[in-house]
Amino acid sequence: MTKRIEFKVSLEVFSPEEWTETDTLLIEKARGILEKAHAPYSDFLVGAALLLENGEIFVANNQENVSFPVGVCAERIVLSYALGNHPDQRPLKIAIVAKRRADQEVATVTPCGLCRQTINEYEVKFGHPIEILMLNPQGEILKASGIDQLLPFRFNDLNS
Ligand code: THU
Repeated sequence: MTKRIEFKVSLEVFSPEEWTETDTLLIEKARGILEKAHAPYSDFLVGAALLLENGEIFVANNQENVSFPVGVCAERIVLSYALGNHPDQRPLKIAIVAKRRADQEVATVTPCGLCRQTINEYEVKFGHPIEILMLNPQGEILKASGIDQLLPFRFNDLNS
């Protein structure tokens, strides 16, 4: 039989009545900042809120460019800014909310590959998982306990 390396991944699903106070605040902050996104090319607005160990919450949104690949996702902006200013504060949780400009309801979003690798970077730096909270149109939080649930075969070691 062929030998396999397998990962079982999962997301926890929380209905609004099960949300914790902290998770509610993070989702509200991510939702609050998405309207300020610079997304004239995709009209897909994304907000991210990041909680650091010292209790500070940072927010950011996606910033696009006429040269499309130059655009940067909300998650990478908030991680770079927060960790650039607070290199010793462990990031605990990141919440992500998205919406198409023309829609009232939110769109389900999970971080793109580049953002997953970026989250991985800070997990490795601090030796601790970062929770990833994603809101779906049903008003549920989809929670990944860490980046291993979204990027199981991630790149980590230059020497391996
Ligand atoms: N985007 C984010 O900001 N975060 C994600 O998790 C997914 C995608 C942005 C990139 C681009 O500006 C727009 O959403 C459409 O892909």
